[in-house]
Amino acid sequence: MSESPKREQWASRIGLVLAMAGNAVGLGNFLRFPAQAAKNGGGAFLIPYIVAFIVLGLPLMWIEWTMGRFGGQYGHHSTPGIFDSMGRRKFWKYFGVFGLWANLIIAAYYLYIESWCMAYAGFSLMNGFAETAPKEFFAKLTGDTPNQIWAISTWGMIIFGVCIAINIGILSRGLAKGIEIVSKIGMPLLIVFAAILAIRGLMISPATDSHAVESPMVGLNFVWEPKFDSLTNPAVWLAAAGQIFFTLSIGMGSMHCYSSYLRKDDDVTLNGASGAWTNELCEVVLGGTILLPIAVAYLGLTKVQEMVAGGSGFGLGFMVFPKLFNYWGSFAPLAGFLWFGLLFFAAITSSLAMGQPIMAFLQDEFKFSREKSALAFGAMLLPLALPVAMLHSASFFDEFDYWAGTFSLVVMAVGEAVLFAWIYGVDRGWNEMMRGADLKVPRAFYWIMKYVTPTFLILILVTSIFKPQAGWEKYVASVTSGTEAPQWEWASDGMIGKLLHKDLPLKEGATPEEVAFNQTLKVVRTVDRGAMLAAFAGFAILVSIAWRKREAEGRNTP
Ligand code: PHE
Repeated sequence: MSESPKREQWASRIGLVLAMAGNAVGLGNFLRFPAQAAKNGGGAFLIPYIVAFIVLGLPLMWIEWTMGRFGGQYGHHSTPGIFDSMGRRKFWKYFGVFGLWANLIIAAYYLYIESWCMAYAGFSLMNGFAETAPKEFFAKLTGDTPNQIWAISTWGMIIFGVCIAINIGILSRGLAKGIEIVSKIGMPLLIVFAAILAIRGLMISPATDSHAVESPMVGLNFVWEPKFDSLTNPAVWLAAAGQIFFTLSIGMGSMHCYSSYLRKDDDVTLNGASGAWTNELCEVVLGGTILLPIAVAYLGLTKVQEMVAGGSGFGLGFMVFPKLFNYWGSFAPLAGFLWFGLLFFAAITSSLAMGQPIMAFLQDEFKFSREKSALAFGAMLLPLALPVAMLHSASFFDEFDYWAGTFSLVVMAVGEAVLFAWIYGVDRGWNEMMRGADLKVPRAFYWIMKYVTPTFLILILVTSIFKPQAGWEKYVASVTSGTEAPQWEWASDGMIGKLLHKDLPLKEGATPEEVAFNQTLKVVRTVDRGAMLAAFAGFAILVSIAWRKREAEGRNTP
């Protein structure tokens, strides 16, 4: 177990926890969470969400930290090597490709949103939204036009390019000098910015603000007041679990990578839990107190629910919010800057976490220097980022988000939960986890990791692959009560339904233009899937070359 001398390491414990929290805290906390909560019944969403945090989030977080630290001892800092060191079968290193691939694909669209945050922060500060409607600004920035597949905006692409360059520059400075410093600055600022907005938001009152239609408390209550009516609805559980994965960066290979830079006896339990709790604080408390309460105060709950029903929270955050800030008078430019600034910091500390596993892979296996691997990451990103920027968001952007940002997380989580508890063995795994532990994890988690997490995950995987449009509960009810089952039709957001383009239905009475656009979209999405497959195959080939090299040099995992 030799440690090479130039091995990178975290400089301090506080830096480590902030970097880990920065990894997890992202756009998911401030845009995706409120939208998911609103779509799935507010307080009715919160209970499945908390359960998912306890039986999926926390255990998987500890599993990923433990796996990462374990693999790091053998010089592995990305999932192909980390899984290989635990699994010892050919299969696992290729399974680990998910932990490179998902990061690359997610980065391609995540960085695009990050670049919007930059543009919006600057434009807000210049008080641009006093004159320009946010919708107009957004259309100019992205070039998106209804029923047009090409969406080219020159300056939108320039800002995107600048944003990618900033990320590559930071990554090339290495772990302690790059990611850790950015997290130490970005995370506290983000929390301060968010706190200011949350407090100002809660001060809105219809009594003193003529634009307000409701108290912000209505929005807050909507998120917080527990409701038990959707506990039997699998769709809400699926959404809650999906949110837990995305927000905690679980099933992506990113956490493994960060923890692989720990030392052999460094604590994983307390650090892992602190990171997860910080994320939850930023999600439920801060994320839950800004977008919804402010939007509800000015637009009313029904309107807000309508707005997020089809979308993801972007609409509210980018197209509605800047307009609402105008009601705050002279504070408006600063409020806009704080909002998009906090989104930017949240995003950049996450996008760096997507780049690092790929850099680490190239450094470990192909002895690339930091600079060279950062540039290589940029080069891999380019062919994926360009179509994201140049085509309508319903094509590459949405497809990437579904396959890499939603579906693949569950696949990877199933694999690693099984690998940890059943292949490596939960007893060895538990001991490995508890070595150097500063937090004595309750024994209950041993059983959760062994049985509950894998079972729950497999259930989620199966129900998200085979998802009927009518909802599973109808079929369950028909079996138990003997009523006739609804006709089977694939759900538009199930895996098979997605494959069959069920999410692109043609409206009745569609214009020829709409029909043509719909057909183009289907073709472009098919091309996009080809690109994703090619990226996966590319990484798999690199893994195969790397392991052949390892064998030739006799430095395979002992
Ligand atoms: N967890 C991040 C968020 O909430 C997203 C992320 C995905 C981070 C993949 C790292 C890797 O936005």
